[in-house]
Amino acid sequence: MYQWEELKKFADSCTRCPLCRTRKHSVMGQGNLKAGIMFIAEAPGRKEDEQGVPFVGPAGQMFDRLLKEAGLERNQVYITNIVKCNPPFNRDPSEEEQSACIPYLKYETLLIRPKVIVCLGRIAAQRIISPDFRITRQHGLWTERKGYWLTAVFHPSALLRDPSKTEGAVQDFLAVRRKLDELSL
Ligand code: URA
Repeated sequence: MYQWEELKKFADSCTRCPLCRTRKHSVMGQGNLKAGIMFIAEAPGRKEDEQGVPFVGPAGQMFDRLLKEAGLERNQVYITNIVKCNPPFNRDPSEEEQSACIPYLKYETLLIRPKVIVCLGRIAAQRIISPDFRITRQHGLWTERKGYWLTAVFHPSALLRDPSKTEGAVQDFLAVRRKLDELSL
């Protein structure tokens, strides 16, 4: 079983897909390795590419705000992405890029062993929960699979683009809090 530092080293020198040619830094997930909850977003943005750390840009600030609404802080959670390198011009990561990168997420999940997994946005929800997941209709719904509680919420960037979604996202984060309480996490 790989340790987090080993995974990070692999990601730093990874050439499994063409994003390695345009990235400044790969961006391994980060946070509490003993967290009961793991957030999965889609791919690092420009700021994350510059710094090599997930959710440090504007979407990260919105994410922190939502965490706070749920009485949580970054050091209590683990946050990662489906794809560890920034797709140029912030386009969606392709199916091939996602598939090339998914082993990292599998190892992260084995390492952290979260009880609750929260997908941030459509791309993560379609990869993790179901290929036909509709974020507008299905955000905030829960399913249990293989011992993990899974849900999806709007991506923080979607809230920056459309603030009318914020109240729904706050409610979903409060439901995440209730799930953690229910599971004594
Ligand atoms: N958006 C994402 O999906 N992930 C990040 O790490 C930052 C912005």
